[in-house]
Amino acid sequence: MAEAKAPHGRGGFTEDVSAESLAEIGLRYEVDGEIATITLDRPDKRNAQTFATWSGLARIGESLPEQVRVVVVRGEGPSFSAGIDLRMFTPEGVPGQGSFGSVARLGDASFEQTVQQAQQGFLWLRRPEIVSVAAVQGHAIGAGFQLALACDLRIVADDVKFCMKEPALGLVPDLTGTKPLVELVGLARATDICLTARIVEADEALRIGLAERVVTRDGLADAVRDKTAELLSTNRDAAAATKRLLQGAAGRTLEEQCAAERAEQAMRIKALFGGAS
Ligand code: CAA
Repeated sequence: MAEAKAPHGRGGFTEDVSAESLAEIGLRYEVDGEIATITLDRPDKRNAQTFATWSGLARIGESLPEQVRVVVVRGEGPSFSAGIDLRMFTPEGVPGQGSFGSVARLGDASFEQTVQQAQQGFLWLRRPEIVSVAAVQGHAIGAGFQLALACDLRIVADDVKFCMKEPALGLVPDLTGTKPLVELVGLARATDICLTARIVEADEALRIGLAERVVTRDGLADAVRDKTAELLSTNRDAAAATKRLLQGAAGRTLEEQCAAERAEQAMRIKALFGGAS
């Protein structure tokens, strides 16, 4: 039997997440037991992202081994990510991936499909079975900010600079970032942050709920390691069920949420004690 390049993922098919294929697009991916680490690894270009980055992220999501509970997303070098590769704005574009000019010429259905595929690179980071943690230092601009927002938690270095640059460039944030931003900081602050494209630094990020914790640049890796250990200290299935409850809370009435709690707890108690007579 041929050896698979990656374990079977939750999507039920095998994706190419070999180190070589990911390195070509500036990504690194390591799995160590229950922890997966994704590294944006184009520090010389401040981890600028392309369509290939997003399809690489989606492939990682599809092939994530079942045992993984915590996914750390980090960036190599001085910046977490300077956002979309600015070559997209040029007529030449990114070799093999086109430009905004070529995207503009797509029909409506193809455009829709292209952006939806890009968004798949971000959406899986919210799955209930995992907790995703962004380790953010330096600039997190545009797509970089949105990637940090796609994660459940953000631990940031004291030099962090979040910026939703898209409106300044004539675009909207479309890589899944608008909803988590509003949920985290509220509509008024999200409006301010996006429509001014201003920089949000560490103190403010902590104060308004964009960051869970601010540490020194040198302390970032240790802080993420500590948080990962804390997250792994709870029961795996109870953590997934609790995340499902928390994620659904905003869309439910109190009564509906109470019913959802009862349903999840019934499953937990049956799983834990149902075998005993
Ligand atoms: N795309 C491609 N290359 C980039 C890049 C980007 N987004 N950001 C930086 N680089 C490259 C630079 O061109 C430079 O390359 P060379 O060494 O080959 O000249 C290298 O990275 C280092 O850049 P700087 O010297 O500028 O590094 P810095 O540390 O002084 O500044 C920075 C860092 C503030 C992030 C600055 O590079 C910058 O402002 N970058 C552009 C940010 C930006 O506007 N991003 C687009 C956001 S919008 C978006 O993501 C979503 C969307 O449009 C849909």
